[in-house]
Amino acid sequence: MILATSQRTFGFVILAVVVLGGIAWLFANARAGRGEAGSEIELAANRKEYFSDDELEGKKLNWALFSAAGLLALCALVIPLYWLGEPGRQEGAVEVFEETFVERGLELYENGAQCVNCHGGGGGGGVATYILNDQNGQYVAQVNWIAPALNNLMWRYSEEEVRYILNYGRPGSPMAAWGGPGGGPLTTQQIDNIIDYLWSVQLTVPQMRAEVNDVVKQIDPALYKRMIAVEKTNRGDGEPLNANRLSRGDELRLGEILFNNQELAAGSYSCARCHVPGANYGKAYAPFERIQYTSFGPNLEGIQNSATEKQHFDLIWNGMESGKLYFSRKQGNPQMPGFGANPNTGQSDKGVPDKGPEGMLTSAQVWAIVTYERNLDNDSTVKSPVAGTKNSPTFAVPAAG
Ligand code: HEC
Ligand code: HEC
Repeated sequence: MILATSQRTFGFVILAVVVLGGIAWLFANARAGRGEAGSEIELAANRKEYFSDDELEGKKLNWALFSAAGLLALCALVIPLYWLGEPGRQEGAVEVFEETFVERGLELYENGAQCVNCHGGGGGGGVATYILNDQNGQYVAQVNWIAPALNNLMWRYSEEEVRYILNYGRPGSPMAAWGGPGGGPLTTQQIDNIIDYLWSVQLTVPQMRAEVNDVVKQIDPALYKRMIAVEKTNRGDGEPLNANRLSRGDELRLGEILFNNQELAAGSYSCARCHVPGANYGKAYAPFERIQYTSFGPNLEGIQNSATEKQHFDLIWNGMESGKLYFSRKQGNPQMPGFGANPNTGQSDKGVPDKGPEGMLTSAQVWAIVTYERNLDNDSTVKSPVAGTKNSPTFAVPAAG
Protein backbone atom coordinates (compact mmCIF):
# COMPACT_ATOMS: atom_id res chain seq x y z
CA MET A 1 0.00 0.00 0.00
CA ILE A 2 2.79 2.42 1.02
CA LEU A 3 4.67 1.49 -2.10
CA ALA A 4 1.65 2.14 -4.29
CA THR A 5 0.96 5.53 -2.68
CA SER A 6 4.54 6.78 -2.99
CA GLN A 7 4.61 5.57 -6.60
CA ARG A 8 1.45 7.45 -7.31
CA THR A 9 2.77 10.67 -5.69
CA PHE A 10 5.94 10.32 -7.72
CA GLY A 11 3.88 9.92 -10.88
CA PHE A 12 1.82 13.01 -10.10
CA VAL A 13 4.96 15.09 -9.49
CA ILE A 14 6.42 14.02 -12.84
CA LEU A 15 3.12 14.72 -14.56
CA ALA A 16 2.96 18.20 -13.00
CA VAL A 17 6.54 18.98 -14.07
CA VAL A 18 5.84 17.82 -17.63
CA VAL A 19 2.59 19.78 -17.90
CA LEU A 20 4.01 22.99 -16.41
CA GLY A 21 7.17 22.69 -18.55
CA GLY A 22 5.02 22.15 -21.63
CA ILE A 23 2.96 25.26 -20.94
CA ALA A 24 6.11 27.33 -20.32
CA TRP A 25 7.59 26.10 -23.59
CA LEU A 26 4.44 26.93 -25.57
CA PHE A 27 4.40 30.38 -24.03
CA ALA A 28 8.07 31.06 -24.79
CA ASN A 29 7.67 29.72 -28.30
CA ALA A 30 4.68 31.94 -29.03
CA ARG A 31 6.55 35.02 -27.78
CA ALA A 32 9.66 34.24 -29.78
CA GLY A 33 7.61 33.89 -32.95
CA ARG A 34 6.06 37.32 -32.67
CA GLY A 35 8.69 39.41 -34.59
CA GLU A 36 8.19 42.15 -37.20
CA ALA A 37 7.58 41.20 -40.83
CA GLY A 38 10.86 40.29 -42.53
CA SER A 39 12.66 39.92 -39.22
CA GLU A 40 12.75 36.12 -39.64
CA ILE A 41 15.92 36.52 -41.67
CA GLU A 42 17.65 37.71 -38.53
CA LEU A 43 15.58 35.75 -36.04
CA ALA A 44 15.39 32.32 -37.68
CA ALA A 45 17.80 30.15 -35.74
CA ASN A 46 19.08 28.32 -38.78
CA ARG A 47 20.09 31.57 -40.49
CA LYS A 48 22.25 32.78 -37.70
CA GLU A 49 25.91 32.17 -37.77
CA TYR A 50 26.68 29.47 -35.25
CA PHE A 51 29.43 29.18 -32.62
CA SER A 52 33.01 28.67 -33.64
CA ASP A 53 34.62 25.25 -33.29
CA ASP A 54 36.65 26.37 -30.29
CA GLU A 55 33.61 27.55 -28.49
CA LEU A 56 31.59 24.45 -29.42
CA GLU A 57 34.22 21.93 -28.36
CA GLY A 58 34.90 23.49 -25.00
CA LYS A 59 32.49 23.98 -22.11
CA LYS A 60 29.42 23.47 -24.28
CA LEU A 61 30.41 19.98 -25.37
CA ASN A 62 31.34 18.97 -21.84
CA TRP A 63 28.04 20.23 -20.57
CA ALA A 64 26.11 18.29 -23.20
CA LEU A 65 28.09 15.12 -22.49
CA PHE A 66 27.73 15.41 -18.74
CA SER A 67 24.02 16.00 -18.89
CA ALA A 68 23.64 13.00 -21.23
CA ALA A 69 25.61 10.86 -18.81
CA GLY A 70 23.48 12.21 -15.99
CA LEU A 71 20.25 11.32 -17.74
CA LEU A 72 21.59 7.87 -18.54
CA ALA A 73 22.48 7.32 -14.90
CA LEU A 74 18.97 8.43 -13.93
CA CYS A 75 17.44 5.88 -16.33
CA ALA A 76 19.79 3.21 -15.03
CA LEU A 77 18.57 3.91 -11.50
CA VAL A 78 14.89 4.36 -12.16
CA ILE A 79 14.31 1.24 -14.26
CA PRO A 80 15.56 -1.22 -11.61
CA LEU A 81 13.62 0.71 -8.98
CA TYR A 82 10.47 0.35 -11.04
CA TRP A 83 11.31 -3.28 -11.51
CA LEU A 84 11.67 -3.77 -7.76
CA GLY A 85 8.24 -2.33 -7.18
CA GLU A 86 6.53 -4.30 -9.96
CA PRO A 87 5.86 -7.62 -8.16
CA GLY A 88 4.29 -5.69 -5.31
CA ARG A 89 2.10 -3.82 -7.73
CA GLN A 90 1.05 -7.08 -9.39
CA GLU A 91 0.30 -8.77 -6.07
CA GLY A 92 -1.75 -5.77 -5.07
CA ALA A 93 -3.70 -6.02 -8.30
CA VAL A 94 -4.37 -9.76 -7.77
CA GLU A 95 -5.54 -9.06 -4.21
CA VAL A 96 -7.91 -6.37 -5.40
CA PHE A 97 -9.28 -8.78 -8.03
CA GLU A 98 -9.75 -11.55 -5.47
CA GLU A 99 -11.52 -9.24 -3.05
CA THR A 100 -13.78 -8.09 -5.85
CA PHE A 101 -14.60 -11.69 -6.79
CA VAL A 102 -15.37 -12.65 -3.20
CA GLU A 103 -17.63 -9.59 -2.89
CA ARG A 104 -19.45 -10.47 -6.11
CA GLY A 105 -19.81 -14.07 -4.88
CA LEU A 106 -21.25 -12.85 -1.58
CA GLU A 107 -23.69 -10.62 -3.45
CA LEU A 108 -24.87 -13.61 -5.50
CA TYR A 109 -24.99 -15.87 -2.45
CA GLU A 110 -27.15 -13.45 -0.50
CA ASN A 111 -29.17 -11.60 -3.12
CA GLY A 112 -28.66 -12.72 -6.72
CA ALA A 113 -29.21 -16.46 -6.27
CA GLN A 114 -30.32 -16.42 -2.63
CA CYS A 115 -28.39 -19.52 -1.62
CA VAL A 116 -28.60 -17.99 1.86
CA ASN A 117 -32.31 -18.81 2.14
CA CYS A 118 -31.54 -22.52 2.27
CA HIS A 119 -27.85 -22.83 3.18
CA GLY A 120 -27.79 -20.13 5.86
CA GLY A 121 -25.59 -17.07 6.38
CA GLY A 122 -21.88 -17.70 5.80
CA GLY A 123 -22.74 -21.20 4.55
CA GLY A 124 -23.62 -22.39 8.06
CA GLY A 125 -26.37 -24.75 6.88
CA GLY A 126 -30.15 -24.53 6.95
CA VAL A 127 -33.32 -26.05 5.71
CA ALA A 128 -35.54 -25.84 2.61
CA THR A 129 -39.27 -26.43 2.39
CA TYR A 130 -39.98 -28.90 -0.39
CA ILE A 131 -43.00 -30.59 -1.89
CA LEU A 132 -42.73 -34.34 -2.37
CA ASN A 133 -44.67 -35.77 -5.27
CA ASP A 134 -45.07 -39.40 -6.20
CA GLN A 135 -44.09 -40.90 -9.55
CA ASN A 136 -47.30 -39.60 -11.12
CA GLY A 137 -46.69 -36.06 -9.93
CA GLN A 138 -49.34 -36.32 -7.18
CA TYR A 139 -48.78 -34.30 -4.01
CA VAL A 140 -47.62 -36.44 -1.10
CA ALA A 141 -46.34 -34.07 1.56
CA GLN A 142 -44.53 -30.85 2.26
CA VAL A 143 -41.29 -31.47 4.14
CA ASN A 144 -38.33 -29.60 5.64
CA TRP A 145 -35.28 -30.82 3.75
CA ILE A 146 -31.90 -30.07 5.32
CA ALA A 147 -29.55 -27.95 3.19
CA PRO A 148 -26.01 -28.93 4.23
CA ALA A 149 -23.52 -26.43 5.63
CA LEU A 150 -21.21 -25.13 2.90
CA ASN A 151 -18.52 -23.70 5.21
CA ASN A 152 -16.84 -27.14 5.16
CA LEU A 153 -17.64 -27.95 1.50
CA MET A 154 -14.09 -27.51 0.16
CA TRP A 155 -12.89 -30.17 2.60
CA ARG A 156 -15.03 -32.91 1.04
CA TYR A 157 -15.23 -31.96 -2.65
CA SER A 158 -12.61 -30.75 -5.11
CA GLU A 159 -13.24 -27.39 -6.77
CA GLU A 160 -14.17 -29.21 -9.99
CA GLU A 161 -16.76 -31.32 -8.18
CA VAL A 162 -18.25 -28.25 -6.54
CA ARG A 163 -18.50 -26.59 -9.95
CA TYR A 164 -20.32 -29.68 -11.22
CA ILE A 165 -22.83 -29.61 -8.35
CA LEU A 166 -23.50 -25.89 -8.85
CA ASN A 167 -23.93 -26.35 -12.59
CA TYR A 168 -26.24 -29.37 -12.46
CA GLY A 169 -27.81 -29.29 -8.98
CA ARG A 170 -29.21 -32.42 -7.27
CA PRO A 171 -32.18 -33.85 -9.14
CA GLY A 172 -35.00 -34.92 -6.84
CA SER A 173 -33.95 -32.48 -4.12
CA PRO A 174 -34.51 -28.75 -3.49
CA MET A 175 -31.04 -28.04 -4.91
CA ALA A 176 -31.63 -26.70 -8.44
CA ALA A 177 -29.19 -26.48 -11.36
CA TRP A 178 -27.63 -23.01 -11.19
CA GLY A 179 -25.08 -22.97 -14.00
CA GLY A 180 -25.55 -22.55 -17.74
CA PRO A 181 -24.50 -26.14 -18.55
CA GLY A 182 -27.36 -27.49 -16.39
CA GLY A 183 -29.89 -25.01 -17.76
CA GLY A 184 -29.57 -22.66 -14.78
CA PRO A 185 -29.51 -18.84 -14.72
CA LEU A 186 -25.88 -18.14 -13.70
CA THR A 187 -22.88 -17.59 -16.00
CA THR A 188 -19.58 -19.43 -15.68
CA GLN A 189 -18.08 -16.24 -14.23
CA GLN A 190 -20.82 -16.00 -11.61
CA ILE A 191 -20.37 -19.65 -10.60
CA ASP A 192 -16.63 -18.96 -10.22
CA ASN A 193 -17.38 -15.91 -8.06
CA ILE A 194 -19.63 -18.01 -5.81
CA ILE A 195 -16.83 -20.56 -5.47
CA ASP A 196 -14.42 -17.73 -4.54
CA TYR A 197 -16.89 -16.63 -1.91
CA LEU A 198 -17.29 -20.18 -0.57
CA TRP A 199 -13.51 -20.44 -0.22
CA SER A 200 -13.55 -17.32 1.92
CA VAL A 201 -15.96 -18.84 4.49
CA GLN A 202 -14.35 -22.29 4.94
CA LEU A 203 -13.74 -23.41 8.52
CA THR A 204 -10.27 -24.50 9.64
CA VAL A 205 -9.44 -28.11 10.54
CA PRO A 206 -9.45 -27.36 14.31
CA GLN A 207 -12.88 -25.72 13.95
CA MET A 208 -14.28 -28.78 12.16
CA ARG A 209 -12.75 -31.11 14.78
CA ALA A 210 -14.39 -29.04 17.51
CA GLU A 211 -17.84 -29.23 15.84
CA VAL A 212 -17.69 -33.03 15.58
CA ASN A 213 -16.14 -33.49 19.03
CA ASP A 214 -18.91 -31.47 20.68
CA VAL A 215 -21.57 -33.75 19.25
CA VAL A 216 -19.84 -36.94 20.37
CA LYS A 217 -19.19 -35.44 23.81
CA GLN A 218 -22.83 -34.47 24.19
CA ILE A 219 -24.13 -37.94 23.27
CA ASP A 220 -21.52 -40.05 25.05
CA PRO A 221 -18.84 -38.29 27.16
CA ALA A 222 -16.94 -41.50 27.99
CA LEU A 223 -16.75 -42.51 24.33
CA TYR A 224 -15.57 -39.01 23.52
CA LYS A 225 -12.66 -39.37 25.94
CA ARG A 226 -11.60 -42.69 24.46
CA MET A 227 -11.85 -41.25 20.94
CA ILE A 228 -9.59 -38.30 21.82
CA ALA A 229 -7.09 -40.65 23.48
CA VAL A 230 -6.81 -42.78 20.32
CA GLU A 231 -6.60 -39.70 18.10
CA LYS A 232 -3.69 -38.40 20.18
CA THR A 233 -1.71 -41.55 19.46
CA ASN A 234 -2.37 -41.04 15.74
CA ARG A 235 -1.32 -37.42 15.55
CA GLY A 236 1.27 -36.78 12.88
CA ASP A 237 0.82 -40.31 11.53
CA GLY A 238 0.77 -40.00 7.75
CA GLU A 239 -0.58 -43.53 7.24
CA PRO A 240 -4.30 -43.54 8.10
CA LEU A 241 -4.77 -47.12 6.86
CA ASN A 242 -2.57 -48.35 9.70
CA ALA A 243 -3.80 -45.86 12.28
CA ASN A 244 -4.69 -46.89 15.84
CA ARG A 245 -8.38 -47.65 16.27
CA LEU A 246 -11.06 -47.77 18.94
CA SER A 247 -12.44 -51.08 20.21
CA ARG A 248 -15.06 -52.75 18.02
CA GLY A 249 -17.89 -51.78 20.37
CA ASP A 250 -16.75 -48.16 20.42
CA GLU A 251 -16.41 -48.09 16.65
CA LEU A 252 -19.98 -49.32 16.19
CA ARG A 253 -21.27 -46.66 18.54
CA LEU A 254 -19.15 -43.79 17.17
CA GLY A 255 -19.80 -44.88 13.59
CA GLU A 256 -23.51 -44.83 14.25
CA ILE A 257 -23.35 -41.30 15.66
CA LEU A 258 -21.28 -39.95 12.77
CA PHE A 259 -23.15 -41.80 10.02
CA ASN A 260 -26.55 -40.55 11.14
CA ASN A 261 -26.08 -37.14 12.70
CA GLN A 262 -28.25 -34.76 10.71
CA GLU A 263 -28.38 -32.02 13.28
CA LEU A 264 -24.71 -31.12 13.18
CA ALA A 265 -24.10 -28.49 10.48
CA ALA A 266 -27.30 -29.52 8.70
CA GLY A 267 -26.05 -33.04 8.07
CA SER A 268 -22.94 -31.98 6.17
CA TYR A 269 -20.72 -34.44 8.10
CA SER A 270 -23.20 -37.30 7.86
CA CYS A 271 -23.72 -40.18 5.45
CA ALA A 272 -27.40 -40.87 6.07
CA ARG A 273 -28.52 -37.77 4.19
CA CYS A 274 -27.47 -39.41 0.93
CA HIS A 275 -27.59 -43.09 1.81
CA VAL A 276 -30.81 -43.41 3.82
CA PRO A 277 -34.08 -42.59 2.03
CA GLY A 278 -36.03 -39.95 3.92
CA ALA A 279 -33.17 -39.00 6.24
CA ASN A 280 -33.00 -35.55 4.63
CA TYR A 281 -36.44 -34.64 5.87
CA GLY A 282 -36.66 -36.42 9.18
CA LYS A 283 -38.27 -39.70 8.08
CA ALA A 284 -35.30 -42.02 7.97
CA TYR A 285 -36.16 -45.60 7.05
CA ALA A 286 -39.90 -44.92 7.05
CA PRO A 287 -41.25 -47.76 4.88
CA PHE A 288 -43.52 -45.52 2.81
CA GLU A 289 -40.66 -43.23 1.77
CA ARG A 290 -38.54 -46.24 1.13
CA ILE A 291 -40.90 -47.44 -1.55
CA GLN A 292 -41.72 -44.07 -3.06
CA TYR A 293 -38.36 -42.37 -3.15
CA THR A 294 -34.84 -43.53 -3.74
CA SER A 295 -32.01 -41.92 -1.90
CA PHE A 296 -29.24 -40.18 -3.73
CA GLY A 297 -26.51 -42.68 -2.82
CA PRO A 298 -26.93 -46.47 -2.86
CA ASN A 299 -28.14 -48.66 0.00
CA LEU A 300 -25.04 -49.68 1.92
CA GLU A 301 -26.39 -52.80 3.61
CA GLY A 302 -24.19 -55.74 2.68
CA ILE A 303 -21.30 -53.48 1.66
CA GLN A 304 -18.93 -55.88 3.47
CA ASN A 305 -19.50 -58.35 0.63
CA SER A 306 -18.31 -56.04 -2.15
CA ALA A 307 -15.24 -54.45 -0.59
CA THR A 308 -12.42 -55.34 1.76
CA GLU A 309 -12.05 -53.24 4.91
CA LYS A 310 -9.11 -51.39 3.39
CA GLN A 311 -10.86 -50.65 0.10
CA HIS A 312 -13.84 -49.46 2.10
CA PHE A 313 -11.71 -47.17 4.30
CA ASP A 314 -9.86 -45.84 1.28
CA LEU A 315 -13.12 -44.88 -0.44
CA ILE A 316 -14.54 -42.97 2.53
CA TRP A 317 -11.17 -41.36 3.24
CA ASN A 318 -10.58 -40.14 -0.33
CA GLY A 319 -14.03 -40.02 -1.93
CA MET A 320 -14.60 -40.86 -5.58
CA GLU A 321 -13.34 -39.38 -8.78
CA SER A 322 -15.45 -39.37 -11.88
CA GLY A 323 -14.93 -42.57 -13.84
CA LYS A 324 -12.05 -43.78 -11.68
CA LEU A 325 -12.08 -47.37 -10.45
CA TYR A 326 -13.05 -48.05 -6.84
CA PHE A 327 -13.41 -51.33 -4.97
CA SER A 328 -12.49 -54.04 -7.45
CA ARG A 329 -14.87 -53.29 -10.32
CA LYS A 330 -16.86 -50.14 -9.81
CA GLN A 331 -16.72 -46.81 -11.54
CA GLY A 332 -16.45 -43.62 -9.48
CA ASN A 333 -19.19 -41.00 -9.11
CA PRO A 334 -17.81 -37.55 -8.18
CA GLN A 335 -20.78 -36.84 -5.91
CA MET A 336 -19.58 -39.25 -3.23
CA PRO A 337 -17.50 -36.91 -0.99
CA GLY A 338 -14.15 -37.69 0.63
CA PHE A 339 -14.18 -37.33 4.42
CA GLY A 340 -10.56 -37.95 5.44
CA ALA A 341 -8.12 -36.38 2.99
CA ASN A 342 -8.39 -32.82 1.72
CA PRO A 343 -9.37 -33.13 -1.98
CA ASN A 344 -8.03 -29.64 -2.74
CA THR A 345 -4.47 -30.11 -1.53
CA GLY A 346 -1.46 -30.07 -3.87
CA GLN A 347 -3.09 -28.10 -6.70
CA SER A 348 -1.84 -24.60 -6.01
CA ASP A 349 -0.30 -24.59 -9.51
CA LYS A 350 -3.91 -24.52 -10.78
CA GLY A 351 -4.74 -21.64 -8.46
CA VAL A 352 -6.63 -23.86 -5.97
CA PRO A 353 -6.03 -22.79 -2.33
CA ASP A 354 -3.97 -25.39 -0.47
CA LYS A 355 -4.89 -25.81 3.19
CA GLY A 356 -2.87 -28.94 3.92
CA PRO A 357 -3.58 -32.67 3.73
CA GLU A 358 -6.08 -33.09 6.59
CA GLY A 359 -9.83 -33.22 5.97
CA MET A 360 -13.18 -33.31 7.78
CA LEU A 361 -12.83 -36.46 9.91
CA THR A 362 -9.92 -38.21 11.65
CA SER A 363 -8.71 -41.73 10.84
CA ALA A 364 -10.24 -43.09 14.06
CA GLN A 365 -13.61 -41.60 13.06
CA VAL A 366 -13.51 -42.94 9.51
CA TRP A 367 -12.56 -46.41 10.78
CA ALA A 368 -15.56 -46.25 13.13
CA ILE A 369 -17.87 -45.47 10.19
CA VAL A 370 -16.39 -48.35 8.19
CA THR A 371 -17.11 -50.80 11.01
CA TYR A 372 -20.64 -49.45 11.49
CA GLU A 373 -21.43 -49.70 7.77
CA ARG A 374 -20.12 -53.24 7.56
CA ASN A 375 -22.70 -54.16 10.18
CA LEU A 376 -25.70 -52.30 8.81
CA ASP A 377 -27.52 -55.52 7.93
CA ASN A 378 -26.64 -57.10 11.23
CA ASP A 379 -29.40 -56.05 13.58
CA SER A 380 -27.88 -57.79 16.57
CA THR A 381 -24.85 -55.50 16.49
CA VAL A 382 -26.52 -52.32 15.34
CA LYS A 383 -28.80 -51.39 18.20
CA SER A 384 -29.85 -47.86 17.69
CA PRO A 385 -30.33 -45.63 20.66
CA VAL A 386 -29.21 -42.68 18.57
CA ALA A 387 -31.93 -40.64 16.94
CA GLY A 388 -32.38 -41.11 13.23
CA THR A 389 -31.33 -44.74 12.96
CA LYS A 390 -33.34 -47.85 12.16
CA ASN A 391 -34.81 -48.38 15.60
CA SER A 392 -35.75 -44.76 16.11
CA PRO A 393 -36.71 -43.46 12.71
CA THR A 394 -37.62 -39.94 13.68
CA PHE A 395 -35.36 -37.14 14.76
CA ALA A 396 -35.62 -33.39 14.91
CA VAL A 397 -35.04 -31.34 11.79
CA PRO A 398 -34.95 -27.61 12.46
CA ALA A 399 -38.06 -25.73 11.38
CA ALA A 400 -37.91 -23.81 8.12
CA GLY A 401 -37.38 -20.10 8.41
C1 HEC B 1 -34.26 -23.91 -2.32
C2 HEC B 1 -33.17 -24.16 -1.43
C3 HEC B 1 -31.76 -24.09 -1.98
C4 HEC B 1 -31.16 -23.05 -2.66
C5 HEC B 1 -31.75 -21.71 -3.04
C6 HEC B 1 -29.81 -23.49 -2.90
N1 HEC B 1 -29.60 -24.74 -2.40
FE1 HEC B 1 -27.87 -25.78 -2.49
N2 HEC B 1 -28.79 -27.39 -1.66
C7 HEC B 1 -30.07 -27.38 -1.15
C8 HEC B 1 -30.35 -28.68 -0.57
C9 HEC B 1 -31.63 -29.10 0.12
C10 HEC B 1 -29.20 -29.47 -0.78
C11 HEC B 1 -29.00 -30.92 -0.39
C12 HEC B 1 -29.46 -31.80 -1.49
C13 HEC B 1 -29.31 -33.24 -1.12
O1 HEC B 1 -30.02 -33.67 -0.21
O2 HEC B 1 -28.51 -33.93 -1.75
C14 HEC B 1 -28.24 -28.62 -1.46
C15 HEC B 1 -26.98 -29.03 -1.84
C16 HEC B 1 -25.97 -28.17 -2.24
C17 HEC B 1 -24.60 -28.54 -2.43
C18 HEC B 1 -23.99 -29.91 -2.22
C19 HEC B 1 -23.42 -29.99 -0.84
C20 HEC B 1 -23.21 -31.37 -0.31
O3 HEC B 1 -22.33 -31.54 0.51
O4 HEC B 1 -23.95 -32.28 -0.68
C21 HEC B 1 -23.93 -27.39 -2.77
C22 HEC B 1 -22.46 -27.24 -3.06
C23 HEC B 1 -24.90 -26.32 -2.82
N3 HEC B 1 -26.13 -26.82 -2.50
C24 HEC B 1 -24.61 -25.00 -3.10
C25 HEC B 1 -25.58 -24.02 -3.33
C26 HEC B 1 -25.30 -22.69 -3.81
C27 HEC B 1 -23.92 -22.12 -4.05
C28 HEC B 1 -26.49 -22.06 -3.96
C29 HEC B 1 -26.75 -20.68 -4.54
C30 HEC B 1 -26.32 -20.50 -5.89
C31 HEC B 1 -27.51 -23.00 -3.55
N4 HEC B 1 -26.93 -24.17 -3.16
C32 HEC B 1 -28.86 -22.70 -3.53
C33 HEC B 1 -30.97 -26.34 -1.16
C34 HEC B 1 -30.77 -25.13 -1.82
C1 HEC C 1 -23.68 -36.00 -1.05
C2 HEC C 1 -24.15 -37.34 -1.04
C3 HEC C 1 -23.32 -38.39 -0.33
C4 HEC C 1 -22.85 -38.36 0.97
C5 HEC C 1 -23.00 -37.26 1.99
C6 HEC C 1 -22.20 -39.61 1.18
N1 HEC C 1 -22.27 -40.39 0.06
FE1 HEC C 1 -21.53 -42.26 -0.17
N2 HEC C 1 -22.12 -42.27 -2.11
C7 HEC C 1 -22.77 -41.24 -2.75
C8 HEC C 1 -22.93 -41.57 -4.14
C9 HEC C 1 -23.61 -40.71 -5.18
C10 HEC C 1 -22.31 -42.82 -4.32
C11 HEC C 1 -22.04 -43.57 -5.59
C12 HEC C 1 -23.18 -44.13 -6.28
C13 HEC C 1 -22.69 -44.80 -7.54
O1 HEC C 1 -22.17 -45.90 -7.46
O2 HEC C 1 -22.80 -44.21 -8.59
C14 HEC C 1 -21.84 -43.24 -3.02
C15 HEC C 1 -21.21 -44.45 -2.78
C16 HEC C 1 -20.77 -44.87 -1.54
C17 HEC C 1 -20.19 -46.17 -1.26
C18 HEC C 1 -19.98 -47.28 -2.28
C19 HEC C 1 -21.21 -48.08 -2.36
C20 HEC C 1 -21.14 -49.18 -3.40
O3 HEC C 1 -21.75 -50.21 -3.16
O4 HEC C 1 -20.53 -48.97 -4.43
C21 HEC C 1 -19.89 -46.19 0.07
C22 HEC C 1 -19.27 -47.33 0.86
C23 HEC C 1 -20.27 -44.92 0.62
N3 HEC C 1 -20.81 -44.15 -0.38
C24 HEC C 1 -20.11 -44.56 1.95
C25 HEC C 1 -20.40 -43.30 2.45
C26 HEC C 1 -20.11 -42.88 3.80
C27 HEC C 1 -19.48 -43.75 4.86
C28 HEC C 1 -20.51 -41.61 3.92
C29 HEC C 1 -20.41 -40.71 5.14
C30 HEC C 1 -19.13 -40.60 5.78
C31 HEC C 1 -21.07 -41.22 2.65
N4 HEC C 1 -20.99 -42.27 1.79
C32 HEC C 1 -21.61 -39.98 2.38
C33 HEC C 1 -23.22 -40.07 -2.19
C34 HEC C 1 -22.94 -39.67 -0.90
